[in-house]
Amino acid sequence: MPLISSTEMLQIARKSKYAVGAFNVHTLEMLQAVVEAAAETQSPLIIQTTVGTVKHLGPDYVAAAAKVAANRTGLPIALHLDHCTDFSTIIQCIRAGYTSVMIDASMFAFEENVERTRKVMEVAAAAGVNVEAELGKVGGVEDDIVVDEHEASLADPEECRRFIELTGVNTLAPAIGTAHGIYKGEPNIDFVRIAQIAERVAVPLVLHGGSGIPAEQVRKAVALGMAKMNVATELRIVFSEGIKQVFSAHSGENDPRKYMVPAKEAVKQLAIEKMQLCGCASKAGDMR
Ligand code: 13P
Repeated sequence: MPLISSTEMLQIARKSKYAVGAFNVHTLEMLQAVVEAAAETQSPLIIQTTVGTVKHLGPDYVAAAAKVAANRTGLPIALHLDHCTDFSTIIQCIRAGYTSVMIDASMFAFEENVERTRKVMEVAAAAGVNVEAELGKVGGVEDDIVVDEHEASLADPEECRRFIELTGVNTLAPAIGTAHGIYKGEPNIDFVRIAQIAERVAVPLVLHGGSGIPAEQVRKAVALGMAKMNVATELRIVFSEGIKQVFSAHSGENDPRKYMVPAKEAVKQLAIEKMQLCGCASKAGDMR
C-alpha cells in the first residue's frame, strides 16, 4: 500500500470518536519503532517530522523509509510535516512524497494566517496532500518555534468557524490549553472551548502537546472531537534514556546495532500505549 493522505483517515477517526496517533521521529530506529507499534496493534499511523528533522535527515530519506513501511505493513500510513512556517520547505516535502503538511502561521494576525494557509491549500489540494493549520498559539518549545506562557493564546471558536470557511483547510489545530514539551504541573485544558469549536467546525481537530497529558484528559478531548494526537517529547526522552542506560551499564559499547535496541523498544512500547489511549488500536481496517 502506498502512503496515503491523512484527510480521510482523520475524518473517519473524528466520526468514530477516536484519534490517530501522530508521532515525531528523528531517526530510522524511531520511525521503525512507531511502525512496529502500529503493526502490532493494527492501528492507522501518522509518522511526522519537524522542519529540524527534515533538515537533519533529508525529506527524501524520510519519505523513502515511510514508503517502505506502508508497503511492507499494508497499514494506512500518512507522512506529515509538523509546524512548518515556510512555504518552500512545504513544497520540498510534498515533492519528496509527504502526504500531509502543517502550515503554522499562528504567529500572524488572523487575515495573514488565512492568506498563508490558502496559498498552501492551493498546491496541496492539487497534489492530494492534507493540510493542517493552527489557530491561537500553542505554548512551549517545538524545534525553533518557542512560544512562552504569556504569548500562548487560546483559539476563538467563532474564528475557527470563519477560518475553515475562508481556507477550506482539511484539519485544524486549535490552541486549547495544551503545550509542547513536558508540563510543569497538569495541563489546563479548556474542554468547554473544545466543545464549542467542535460544534462549529466539522473537520478533524488536532491535539498538540500530547506528551504528559493525563489519560483521562486525553480521552475527554478525543470524545469531544480531537481526531489526531501529536506526541514528540515523550518519545524523544524514552529513546535517549534507553541509549543512556546502555552506556551507563556498558560504557565501552560501540555497536549502534546493540545500543539502539532498548531505545527502539522503549519508543515502540510508548507508541503502543498512546495508540491504545487515543483509541486507534485495531482501527487500521477502517481505512481498507
Ligand atoms: P509534545 O512534544 O508535547 O508531545 O508535542 C508534540 C506536538 O504537538 C508536535 O506538534
